[in-house]
Amino acid sequence: MKRILVRLKERSYPILIGRNLVASVGSFLKPLKLGPKILIVTNEAVSNLFLASVLSSLKRAGFELAAPYLLEHGDERDKSEKTLLRLWEHMARAKLERTSTLLALGGGVVGDVAGFAASTYMRGISLVLVPTTLLAQVDASIGGKTGIDLPSAKNLVGTFYQPRMVISDVGTLQKIPTRELRNGFAEIIKYGMIRDAALFRLLEREKNWFEPDFLETVIARSAAVKAEIIERDERETKGERIILNYGHTFAHAFEAASQYRLPHGEAVALGMVSAARLARKKKLLRASDEERQNRLIEKAGLPTERARYRLGHHGILQHMMLDKKKREGKPRFVLPSAVGCVKVVENVSLAELKEIL
Ligand SMILES: NC(=O)c1ccc[n+]([C@@H]2O[C@H](COP(=O)([O-])OP(=O)(O)OC[C@H]3O[C@@H](n4cnc5c(N)ncnc54)[C@H](O)[C@@H]3O)[C@@H](O)[C@H]2O)c1
Ligand SMILES: [Zn+2]
Repeated sequence: MKRILVRLKERSYPILIGRNLVASVGSFLKPLKLGPKILIVTNEAVSNLFLASVLSSLKRAGFELAAPYLLEHGDERDKSEKTLLRLWEHMARAKLERTSTLLALGGGVVGDVAGFAASTYMRGISLVLVPTTLLAQVDASIGGKTGIDLPSAKNLVGTFYQPRMVISDVGTLQKIPTRELRNGFAEIIKYGMIRDAALFRLLEREKNWFEPDFLETVIARSAAVKAEIIERDERETKGERIILNYGHTFAHAFEAASQYRLPHGEAVALGMVSAARLARKKKLLRASDEERQNRLIEKAGLPTERARYRLGHHGILQHMMLDKKKREGKPRFVLPSAVGCVKVVENVSLAELKEIL
């Protein structure tokens, strides 16, 4: 098992990464000296796979278990104000107190909603995350962002709220569809590009990315990269966290232009391809490094060519301009200068963007 500490003074917390952790959740939580009562938030699909095991482990560790709460849809629709209201009411009926704990068992959707509920119920109760998708293990469960969607935009309402512990069981990934795993790998490649050239080389060398030991290694390295950035800019006020957005300015525009049919990881892959192309145009990046990135994206089974998605250029540019307006006319692009290294660049013209796209 690997253990990464996110150092945020009194809000510090460990991320545990390994196999068969779900069956021992109770013993990992014991040293945290949480209050006696725990309520699990999950959804039906995830509960069928892991709920019994988590419940019995918590029981063995002496916790008092409230009735679990199952989110209704099992997808992005659960990140709504309706879900939140029902969840808060469930928590009240279960008589959760200030000392109680909410445990999120599932993907990023479960973590985001449960995190928001935990951060607001009685002005904040303890939160434990047990992420069960690759994306949630390398990204969503680290950094303290919680939130729900509004009809006008995703993740528009939320809080910064750090969990007490994150428990990432690599074994839970066995039944995840390959396409979902690939989407998680888009973020892992991102971490390699922005900060960790050794992680990038590991991905280049390894043949079987889905092998559990390898997964454990790359999840831990990814978590460490994100944790280190969060430590320096917990609330996105110091301009450090922006590098986590590598490929994402383009990706968000591609997702919007596809009416959100394009999966996030595929959009990020295409976004990194565009960002690297822009970096090359600006003579920041060598051709050989751009090729290395794109080869790795292809190796992950992720797209490097946008053509087959038929996303209109007009819609993409419009979205990027809208994004620019939101940030007072100063679009900032995170561009690679080498594998493992990025720069924040502001002088990108509309003409350059058009050329890239
Ligand atoms: N808070 C953050 O910093 C942050 C960062 C990135 C993404 N996110 C959010 O995360 C969400 C996406 O998360 P996601 O990709 O984990 O998707 P998800 O939570 O929707 O899960 C995807 C599907 O996989 C199922 N599932 C979960 N675990 C499984 C398992 N072990 N085996 C089989 N099926 C399983 C779920 O029931 C669901 O149907 C988005 O809402 C996004 O906004 C948040
Ligand atoms: Zn992302």
